[in-house]
Amino acid sequence: MPKVTIDGKQLDAPDGINLIDAAERAGIEVPHYCYHPGLTIAGNCRMCLVEVEKMPKLQIACNTRVAEGMVVQTRSDRVKQAQAAVLEFLLINHPIDCPVCDQAGECKLQDYYMDYDDRPSRFPLGRKNRKGKAIDIGSGVMLDQERCILCARCTRFFDEVTHTSELAIFGRGDHNVVDTYPGAKVDNQYAGNVVDICPVGALTEKEFRFRKRVWYLDRTPSICGGCERGCSIDIHHQRGRIYRFKPRYNPEVNGYWMCDEGRHGFPALQGESRLIAPLVQAKDRMAPEGWTAAIRRAAETITECRDLNGAASIGAIAGAQATNEEAFALKRLITSTIGSKHLSGFSWSPMAASADDKLLIRANKNPNSEGLRALGLAADGIDRLAAAVASGELKVLIALRADLAGALGEAEFGRRFGALDYLIVLDTDVNETAQMANQVLPIAAYPELDGSFTNFQGRVQRIHRAFDPPGEALAATEVIARLGHAIDGVTRPGAAEAVFAEMAASEPAFRGLSIEALSPHGALLANRSA
Ligand code: SF4
Ligand code: SF4
Ligand code: FES
Repeated sequence: MPKVTIDGKQLDAPDGINLIDAAERAGIEVPHYCYHPGLTIAGNCRMCLVEVEKMPKLQIACNTRVAEGMVVQTRSDRVKQAQAAVLEFLLINHPIDCPVCDQAGECKLQDYYMDYDDRPSRFPLGRKNRKGKAIDIGSGVMLDQERCILCARCTRFFDEVTHTSELAIFGRGDHNVVDTYPGAKVDNQYAGNVVDICPVGALTEKEFRFRKRVWYLDRTPSICGGCERGCSIDIHHQRGRIYRFKPRYNPEVNGYWMCDEGRHGFPALQGESRLIAPLVQAKDRMAPEGWTAAIRRAAETITECRDLNGAASIGAIAGAQATNEEAFALKRLITSTIGSKHLSGFSWSPMAASADDKLLIRANKNPNSEGLRALGLAADGIDRLAAAVASGELKVLIALRADLAGALGEAEFGRRFGALDYLIVLDTDVNETAQMANQVLPIAAYPELDGSFTNFQGRVQRIHRAFDPPGEALAATEVIARLGHAIDGVTRPGAAEAVFAEMAASEPAFRGLSIEALSPHGALLANRSA
């Protein structure tokens, strides 16, 4: 590792890294626009100029690799002068429409201007070049050419990552503009990433525009539940509402990116159909009831049926939208507390399937099929459960995040499961199965939960509770713990951290893992190697 000195701080920098990344390791910011670690180096913005001892001219830090004995100054007078000059140059034709710009609050032009320039403009507003504003370039992305600083991050993303090359820089000199090719639109499943990497307000997200000032948003690290890839994300939210998903860097899973389907998947988590109170079938309608009555009713139904017909009369099915902790808690309830063998996983999602692609997208739209497999909940158990119902053995079924009627269709569901005496549904929304249930217990959606998912690589990743579930909905682990206690009087933990610890102690696939060790990039199941 070469030894370098940056602003008087000495550090051992890994071979081959550039001076921006080396300085960051020393806690020093080198301002930059065009450099992005997920793209090739363009070296066009000149914002990252630094002074390197024995080099006569200032060097761009993004394209200067560390070398043994290198001595670098990032805040010398020469550097400060250059930084201010670059900013003045970039701002000559900028429209200064920050008050109506969605990027305000997270704009590198604003931030760097305050930190590295902070002088009044010498260029009159009326003489600035006018360019295109609020252009819908496709895939939910809006372009403002006046705000663009021509860093070429967006064009490189489409050239190098998606290989779709929809954007290019046209024109000359101060008439340069980023644009699509004539008659063409941006049309790919990863376009939202250019909004994330555009350092200014030139590219904004159509769905997010003018909806919320970014400084009001809280950020909670989580995992996208849109497919079995499980991209690392940050949930941006305020007062129990999600405003956007942003990708979070995870070198093991998604790098810097996420797909647009996952990015725009959050409205389904907070729709009108959310369940907010326990419901029970009463004559021709579902009536709300309190948690104490609902748990007592479910527990009494289960114990009476077990005492009369044996443990095998009770069964459960867990959808692959369930977390590891939820699936484990359900497994323990069925196999230990009740003593039944009728337990299955269920890998179906209401999201339309799309084929695996070469970047991130997976055809399996469930975030935790692998976790269920690791817990021994095979996804092919529906036929076994249906056969047990048909034979009259299975009479009470608990469906956890498993919309069987939605997947099979109402008629087929009726044919296979219509003979059940009692159906208890634990879910977030009034789906087709919930509408046919005897009892519905409302549970939290994954942004409202602590816990973990296991992605298709066998990587167990942490989700964090961003805010409380709506109404009286509870974490499913808590509901299952209460149900277990009402059945056998044994107190079990309902909090995800404690359930994870018990799962790691008793399930071979999770042995040796701890929930704390899952952040920030996840950890592989015990039987998987990197
Ligand atoms: S639109 Fe944004 S990312 Fe693209 S060149 Fe302009 S400033 Fe850079
Ligand atoms: S690839 Fe899958 S996990 Fe990643 S953002 Fe898209 S839907 Fe979500
Ligand atoms: S970041 Fe180095 S030239 Fe743009």
